[in-house]
Amino acid sequence: MVTEKLYLGEKTEQSINTAAEIIKNGGVVAMPTETVYGLAASAFCDSAIKKVFTAKGRPQDNPLIVHIADINELTVIAKDISEKALMCAKKFWPGPFTMVVNKTNKVCESVSCGLNTVAVRMPNNQTAINLIKACGLPLAAPSANSSGSPSPTTAQHVINDLDGKIDAVLMGERCEVGVESTVVSFCGENPVLLRPGAVTFEQLKEIVPNITVDPAVFKSPEANQKVLSPGMKYKHYSPLCQLVLVEGGSEDFCRYVNQKGGFAVCFNEDTEHLTGEYQVYGKNENDSSLAYSLFHVLRELDEKGIKEGYVHAPQKNGVGLAVYNRLIRACAYRVVKL
Ligand code: TXA
Ligand code: MG
Repeated sequence: MVTEKLYLGEKTEQSINTAAEIIKNGGVVAMPTETVYGLAASAFCDSAIKKVFTAKGRPQDNPLIVHIADINELTVIAKDISEKALMCAKKFWPGPFTMVVNKTNKVCESVSCGLNTVAVRMPNNQTAINLIKACGLPLAAPSANSSGSPSPTTAQHVINDLDGKIDAVLMGERCEVGVESTVVSFCGENPVLLRPGAVTFEQLKEIVPNITVDPAVFKSPEANQKVLSPGMKYKHYSPLCQLVLVEGGSEDFCRYVNQKGGFAVCFNEDTEHLTGEYQVYGKNENDSSLAYSLFHVLRELDEKGIKEGYVHAPQKNGVGLAVYNRLIRACAYRVVKL
C-alpha cells in the first residue's frame, strides 16, 4: 500500500488518467459517485480486490458492486439477464440502482465472495464514468469508508477513514444523493429489494409489480436466517454516538426527547418544540433532504463529541425507506415507537 498522499482534482483529464493508471496497475482509488464515494479497483484483478477488503477492514463474505460506464458492458460481467432486469437498467441507469444478476467467469471470485451472482450499477457521476472509461475495465467499488462506519459523502470523509491505506483519492463534490444505491436481486422467481435507495420501491413497482421486500430491510436479520444480501447482516453506518430511533409525530417526538433531556437529531419542523440541543438532518416532507444529510450528520455527531442522542424516524416510503433502513442499523436496532 502506498504511504505517500495522492489527492487528485476530479475535473482534469490528467487526474483521471493518473487514477486510471493506478487502477490498471492493480491499485485502489477512491472516486466520487452520486450516492456516496466508492473505493474502486479492477473487477478483473484479484489482488486489487483483496486490497479493497483490507483497506476497509471489510468482512470477507460481503461482496462488492461492479460499476460500468455503458450498458453494453453488462454482458461481459453478467449473463442470463432477465427482461425485467434489463427494463430496470434502461429506466434507472445511469443512477442509484444496482441489480444482482448471474455473473460470468470474467469477474473475480473475490468480488462476489464465491457467489455465482454479481451486483452491477452505472453511476450518474461524470467523474466516475470518465474513470471507468479511462480504465477500460468494470470497477468494483464498495463505499469508501472503514467497514461499519457511516458511508462517506465527501472526499474529506474518505481521507478521514482511509488515508494511508489506499493509493489515491479522486477529489469531487459532496455526493448529491447521500445514501447508497438501491439494490434489487433478479436471481429468484420474483425481484427482491435487498437495500432501499433513491430509486424507490414505488418506482420499481411500476416496472416490476411483483417485486417484494427482503425482511432484512426493516429489521435485524435473525440468527441463522439465510441472508440474500450479505451486507445487511453486519454492523453498519454506526457513529460512536449511541443513538435511539424514535418513531412518531413531531409533538410526540419532541415531548419524549424533552422529557429524556437528550440530544435530538431531528427534522426542521421539530426545532420550535425542542427545549434541549439538537441537530437538524432535513425536512420531514422532503425525504431526499434527509438522505442528503444523513451520513454527514452521523459523522458530525462524533466530531462534536455527542455521546447519546434520539433520532426522529422518517416515513417508511419513498426515499424515506432508505433513510429508515440506514438509521435502524446506525441505532443498532434500538427503536422506540411512540
Ligand atoms: O451507491 C452504492 O451502491 C455505493 C457506490 C460506491 O456505488 N456502493 C456501495 O457498495 O454501497 P457497498 O459495498 O457498500 O454495498 C454493496 C451492497 C452490500 O450490501 C452487498 O452485500 C450487496 O451490495 N451485494 C453485492 N453483491 C451482491 C450479490 N452478488 N448478492 C447480493 N448482494 C450483493
Ligand atoms: Mg458500504
